[in-house]
Amino acid sequence: MNAPRPQRDGRGGRSTPRGAGLLCAVLAGLLALSGSRADVPFPTGEQIEFFEKRIRPALYEACYRCHSTESGRSRGSLLLDTRAGLLKGGDSGPALVPGDPDASLLIRAIRYTDKDLQMPPASAGGKLPPKQIADLEA
Ligand code: HEC
Repeated sequence: MNAPRPQRDGRGGRSTPRGAGLLCAVLAGLLALSGSRADVPFPTGEQIEFFEKRIRPALYEACYRCHSTESGRSRGSLLLDTRAGLLKGGDSGPALVPGDPDASLLIRAIRYTDKDLQMPPASAGGKLPPKQIADLEA
């Protein structure tokens, strides 16, 4: 029987310590999740299901008004209603980097850590609830 081994370092542990309190707690939980996901280059059935059940509805409510084919608006040239749109991103490049929430523009935007890019805009309801941010980070 193998003793449980600590997670490999080198590749997995790229996150930098940052922020405090809640965000840290949320991230800590997420690292466990995204660690295993980062190794999977293509979405698994489970990931697609997660996307359809949790992510798409969250984005739908909060973002599609301004970023979807359906609404006919693509602010910042960004469409959030398809995986392709998310990966392609908008004016500033890919919105999502699979398996790397810290590098994802969309995640920076919804965390409100970047003062130049905060989504949804304060005028449109402001920051999402932490639970939704956590789902999106996963
Ligand atoms: C009320 C309209 C509105 C809503 C709602 C909105 N956005 Fe935006 N978004 C914009 C506008 C306008 C821009 C372009 C402005 C800019 O580049 O500063 C933009 C730009 C962006 C960008 C940068 C695109 C790029 O490549 O430059 C991202 C990422 C983004 N939004 C994500 C989101 C997410 C995620 C949500 C939902 C949680 C959301 N937005 C909700 C109006 C909106």
